[in-house]
Amino acid sequence: MVGLFSRMVVAMTIRMPRWFVGWVSRRYVAGPTLDDAVKVMKRLSKEGACFTIDVLGEEISTMEEAQFFLEEYQRVVSAIIDNDLDSNLSIKPTAFGLLLDKDKGMENIEAIVKMAHGYDMFVRLDMEDHRVTDDTIQVMLDMHEKGLTNVGVVLQGRLFRTLDDIKSIEEKIGPNADYRICKGIYLEPEQIAHSTRQPIIDATNQCIDAMLDSGAYVGIASHDHPVINHTLTALESRGMGPGKEDPRSNAGPARKQKGPGYEFQMLLGVRGPLRRKLCNQGHTTRVYIPYGEKWYEYSIRRLKENPTIGTQVAKAFLMPWTNRP
Ligand code: FDA
Repeated sequence: MVGLFSRMVVAMTIRMPRWFVGWVSRRYVAGPTLDDAVKVMKRLSKEGACFTIDVLGEEISTMEEAQFFLEEYQRVVSAIIDNDLDSNLSIKPTAFGLLLDKDKGMENIEAIVKMAHGYDMFVRLDMEDHRVTDDTIQVMLDMHEKGLTNVGVVLQGRLFRTLDDIKSIEEKIGPNADYRICKGIYLEPEQIAHSTRQPIIDATNQCIDAMLDSGAYVGIASHDHPVINHTLTALESRGMGPGKEDPRSNAGPARKQKGPGYEFQMLLGVRGPLRRKLCNQGHTTRVYIPYGEKWYEYSIRRLKENPTIGTQVAKAFLMPWTNRP
């Protein structure tokens, strides 16, 4: 029933005029320009949030587009420094050309990671669908091998492989690992991923435990109460929490502009009251700020990739009390 409703919302939305999609996405996307993103961050800074910035756009078809992303992210780094913002970067390896020309793609990624490294700024590699899981993890490992340890990956709880990935990353870089863990937005084949709600939650929670036990830094990217409540209990049982130095004996190095071994992360426009509550309790809370000219393509692709977002967006508008920005 929910699936049918979601598909209806998606089918209707993608037929709507651009202005309507723009009106809906205004809440989830800072705007078309870097200036828009800076304005949103300045506003949300007053709520105690910190940020990670995403220039919209992913799989590209030419290396000229990859060059655009490299240059735009260079502008982002400068804007973060010039405006003294507490923010890092979220990049999609495919937007830098990884699937088109692996060597040049790696060169582009290394260029932005090096620039960020010069400012002690962290770079998160967003995780795309299962075709690039291995490559994305490998990019992170290669950067660490080159001494660029300001890079971490996203892992997705819904994938069966993720617990093994955590183990294998731990063997290679130990507590220098810095993760974002999320459920995973892509609807993956059922041979490789959980596809229903409770198993996805359980698997994500197991990954959070494994990451915390490995001594890694963990960014918990979820708006879902069972995941957040599990995290709060997992932190407490390990003596971790706001204002406490990370007590894990195997913990990695303290990180600039990060929490004590962990942080919560949420998307712009989603469950603001929950984020503010966690922030008021003293937890580091990071908001994911997407911006860019490609807001329309991004919104439509996200809806098509995962129609359940249709229900969430409809709920946010029809029952705003369930999801205030
Ligand atoms: P769930 O989907 O159950 O959401 C809980 C509630 O939150 C919903 O009922 C609704 O009220 C609200 N909500 C959640 N998402 C919403 C939305 N888009 N619009 C409106 N309301 C919404 N995935 C991935 O594959 N690779 C990645 O790199 C990332 N990166 C990433 C960064 C950050 C900071 C976040 C928060 C999430 C991601 N994700 C991601 C997406 C993630 O995998 C997942 O799809 C979403 O966070 C939704 O899952 P929840 O755990 O929030 O639960």
